[in-house]
Amino acid sequence: SPLHAPAPHESALKHTSGEALYVDDLPTPPGTLVGHVIASPHAHARLVRQDASRARALPGVHAVLFAGDIPGVNDIGPAIHDEPLLADGEVHCVGQAVALVVAESAAVCRQAARLVELEYEELPALLSIREAMAAGAFLSEPHTIRRGEPEAALARAPVRVQGECMTGAQDHFYLETQVSLAVLEEDGALRIWSSTQHPSEVQAKVAEVMGLGRHQVVVEVPRMGGGFGGKETQAAPFAAFAALGATVTRRPVKVWLNRDQDMAQTGKRHPFWARYEAGFSAEGQLLGLKAELVSDGGWSNDLSRAILDRALFHMDNAYFLSDVEVTGRVARTNFPSNTAFRGFGGPQGMYVVEEIFNHAAERLGMDPAELRRRNFYGEAPGNTTPYGQPVVGNRLPRIHEELLASSDYTRRREEIGRFNASSRWTKRGIGYQPVKFGISFTTSFLNQAGALVVIYADGGVQLNHGGTEMGQGLHTKMRAVCAHELGISAERVRVMNTATDKVPNTSATAASSGSDLNGQAVKAACETLRERLRPIAARLLQVERGEAEALCFASGQVFHPERPQRSVSFAEVTQAAYLAQVSLSATGYYRTPDISYDRVAGRGKPFHYFAFGAAVVEVEVSSLTGEHRVRRVDILHDVGHSLVPTIDKGQVEGGFVQGLGWLTCEEVLFDKKGRLLTHSPDTYKIPALGDVPEDFRTALLERAPQEDTIHGSKAVGEPPFMLAIGVVTALRHAIAAFALPGAEVHLASPATPEAILRAVEDARTAK
Ligand code: MTE
Ligand code: MOS
Repeated sequence: SPLHAPAPHESALKHTSGEALYVDDLPTPPGTLVGHVIASPHAHARLVRQDASRARALPGVHAVLFAGDIPGVNDIGPAIHDEPLLADGEVHCVGQAVALVVAESAAVCRQAARLVELEYEELPALLSIREAMAAGAFLSEPHTIRRGEPEAALARAPVRVQGECMTGAQDHFYLETQVSLAVLEEDGALRIWSSTQHPSEVQAKVAEVMGLGRHQVVVEVPRMGGGFGGKETQAAPFAAFAALGATVTRRPVKVWLNRDQDMAQTGKRHPFWARYEAGFSAEGQLLGLKAELVSDGGWSNDLSRAILDRALFHMDNAYFLSDVEVTGRVARTNFPSNTAFRGFGGPQGMYVVEEIFNHAAERLGMDPAELRRRNFYGEAPGNTTPYGQPVVGNRLPRIHEELLASSDYTRRREEIGRFNASSRWTKRGIGYQPVKFGISFTTSFLNQAGALVVIYADGGVQLNHGGTEMGQGLHTKMRAVCAHELGISAERVRVMNTATDKVPNTSATAASSGSDLNGQAVKAACETLRERLRPIAARLLQVERGEAEALCFASGQVFHPERPQRSVSFAEVTQAAYLAQVSLSATGYYRTPDISYDRVAGRGKPFHYFAFGAAVVEVEVSSLTGEHRVRRVDILHDVGHSLVPTIDKGQVEGGFVQGLGWLTCEEVLFDKKGRLLTHSPDTYKIPALGDVPEDFRTALLERAPQEDTIHGSKAVGEPPFMLAIGVVTALRHAIAAFALPGAEVHLASPATPEAILRAVEDARTAK
């Protein structure tokens, strides 16, 4: 069976040869025009005059459109209607869309854009979380999760740590930038090809903007060159621009952003500010915790509330907190609206509690790995999260033991101590990071999926499911599930483009739940088809009808397990089914059972289950340059019974490296006018091959099937991202070695060479 077996990504060869088709590679229909967004140059301003007459007169220009030209609702907000597609009298960030130019070519568009006369009256702007807090500018009410008596616990605690910390933004830097192609069909209907994680929402938003019913809009996704959350909501405006342009000009319109435009116009990972106070016993038990988190939502809501929720849900990470209060709020600033990014707030919440543990380990003089282990959730019935969900199937104690042994943690920590004692300019550090991550959309109703499986009379299969492929290998996994259920080889199954006319009302491919949800739907559809084929196969094999139940579908054959030498091929069965007038297509549907959350009470079971993992990280830091190398990383990660282990291993490695980028080299900077300074790869540094750990050892936890999931597997897309927080712990260990024993380390995030140099200086001069 192709299930649970190593296999290459279904597009690996096409990715590397360049044959894989993305939206911009699809053959464009004749007469296709280019749509170009004119973006606000101001962080906050009133639009006092707009005149496009000179631009419209330019040869090759087909339309210049403003808010007033939108036939339906001028709004693209995914959760709340607070985001005009085109500015409506006021602009709220640099990069906000003000007008759409549609012309024969990108060059004509740019020329026309310069001729559009726009006059602004600048208004004061909020350009940091602190400024927004001081001004009382928020996009949400506070959300609080509380248990026990944290104030009393803090008062009793013999060791207390308190402080503030910040985590930075992160650009998605998908290789394929935002792009959409819209074609007008009969009666005003639209067909759209979009690079989106959420085709159904693009369909819904385009319908709303154009004043159409959803049945008049079809959205199709070939594959994405990466999404990472950046195409969950933020592909929709560009699809809407293409749709608007196509409708007005009656010509196909493509909107494609170059890298600079993409980075300047789209939102990023939410920066977070946090203030915390935590109390520990002398033995290192965390007794009480109070924390306040504020995220930078940018100018509109987008998914900020759900992202803040997930940050709060992950403030506990792997640790039992008996007396705790965490509260969070989304600040409104004059930046592009921040959005989903791998981990969806989880990394930002977890960073805070890990900062607390690092702080406490330095104060207590304890091994940070041992300090963390002492605070793990146990298996006792009282081991519920602060929001009341029991932590069932906690694999961290096992992972901890296996990983510390396989990575030789204790011996290496001693060895590093000896190295540091004899090395003056460079020091080494070792860090350990456990992760527990909740799997499910925390907006419970989103946990549903559908599939449509089509078998042709020759036995070939087309698989449609609601998930999108962004490089994560979802199609490879779904093909394996489908082939397994029907007992055929993966080559006989073709995964089709994701399309809203095949599977309707889908959720975004997000929250790492793509294979969990769609896998069950694919399985259900295949089971329906298999049951229809059983009586046909029974007739061909001349077995009793009552024996049909026992027939096996495997290796492209159908047979009775007691008489495997007599078999018919799957194709013979499907051909016979066709002749017998039996339907060869079926839909499948799945919804996650038993999850819900009450946001007001801060109580519920938002997650179907938890994914677990841990990493040990070794770094070397230079006090002369502030640069560091990641010498070795060992990861042991729990993906349940892996559907396709090669894909999962790639996700673990990729997630870790992307997390390392967020924490060490990717720095998003704006100038004092709110303009993005880091808008291309020459000013924004993502991790490259040389930043990948020199010795990188990734293992999947063995013999660990998960109950009540698709073939015992677990979600993998996001959890490994947070393992990279171990890099910070390792860096702090190395930085502390430059100072006298007992010095506390203050390391800003991201830990760029500048931040590390400052931390080294600071640790040396303190005490
Ligand atoms: N892996 C690749 N190669 N490209 C991506 O864009 N996105 C990540 C993760 N892994 C991503 C990726 C994010 S943010 C999520 S939520 C999951 O994949 C989504 O896919 P899944 O639910 O199928 O795991
Ligand atoms: Mo992933 S941030 O849930 O798209």
